[in-house]
Amino acid sequence: MLVRDTPPLNEIGGDVKELTIIVTGPTSGIGWTTAAELARRGAHVVLACRSASKGEAMVAQLSKEAAAAGNPPPQLEVNLLDLASLESVRQFVERWQQRPLHVLVNNAGMFNMGVGRSETKDGLEVHMQTNHLAHFLLTLGLLPALRKAAQQQQQQQQQQGGFVPRVVTVASAMHHLGYRLQQDPLSERSYSAELAYGNSKLAQVLFTAELNRRLAAAGGGVQALSLHPGNVLTNVVQSLPPAIQSAYRAIMARVLLTPEQDPGAFAAAAATGGYLDCSAQPVQPHALAADPQLAAWLWQWSAQQVKLPQGWDLPAGREEAPAGQAS
Ligand SMILES: NC(=O)c1ccc[n+]([C@@H]2O[C@H](COP(=O)([O-])OP(=O)(O)OC[C@H]3O[C@@H](n4cnc5c(N)ncnc54)[C@H](OP(=O)(O)O)[C@@H]3O)[C@@H](O)[C@H]2O)c1
Repeated sequence: MLVRDTPPLNEIGGDVKELTIIVTGPTSGIGWTTAAELARRGAHVVLACRSASKGEAMVAQLSKEAAAAGNPPPQLEVNLLDLASLESVRQFVERWQQRPLHVLVNNAGMFNMGVGRSETKDGLEVHMQTNHLAHFLLTLGLLPALRKAAQQQQQQQQQQGGFVPRVVTVASAMHHLGYRLQQDPLSERSYSAELAYGNSKLAQVLFTAELNRRLAAAGGGVQALSLHPGNVLTNVVQSLPPAIQSAYRAIMARVLLTPEQDPGAFAAAAATGGYLDCSAQPVQPHALAADPQLAAWLWQWSAQQVKLPQGWDLPAGREEAPAGQAS
């Protein structure tokens, strides 16, 4: 997708003051823009990042910017999270405890272009764990916190304008490449970075749809949405050799959005809908992502892979087929 007319960020989305928002992968690219803009608008933003020094540097930069503009200091908090470690995800959830949470932005992601297959220390293919499985575990672990915020919203609806707490997952239009998700979810039989990335992104869109179905069945006032953020020039190409990376950046700077131009992730924090495009408009995802049986299978498979702790699962509200019986 080429550069399009993009409304400025400050014209998109609603009031986020008083909201607590976690952004994963806020230290670069789309996550940085999303977290920074939400903080500028008065949200309490939790920087869920794997590098403490990058997180602290971000706090320092945004605080300096706010001071220079004569604005109050941004409400930012660094909280360590490495999605390549399921233990790190469980520890994040444990540290969160009873705090209400209004928005979880599952943004962090990686795309190991030009690099061979690798696994995390949990023994899972690295794209599938970083982009999908770790966020699956994180989301279910934080669901009580989202529900708590939803309860509070229901009690104070008038003050908060009826904001519905939500899980926003930054997927990609490349989810159509996940056509072998069910046959080979961890890319063990055949591998390319594009297919592994596509598998993980399809998993994110399917997870969101299934989460929405389960949330609706359970009640409780939380919703989920996923989106394609646009094609944006970010650090997502960092796995390429430096010379190719430089050439890529020079050429693609003419056709890709800058993170500052991209409204998708931020808009999703204030919009509603199932799957959104990069202008935050609800659109149909690829047909694969609209298959409820595949989504139901993925849920169970994901729960097995992350060894979902007892009590974290969200019932389907319908009869479930065993994960082995993929259709
Ligand atoms: N750029 C695009 O055109 C595009 C298109 C479609 C979808 N997306 C999606 O948009 C999201 C953001 O990507 P981006 O383009 O902004 O890429 P980016 O500039 O590379 O930013 C990725 C962020 O994820 C973090 N991250 C990576 N691995 C992590 C891990 N194991 N644990 C915790 N954090 C981790 C990075 O942290 P560090 O700073 O520590 O590396 C960084 O903050 C991704 O989900 C991506 O798939 C991007």
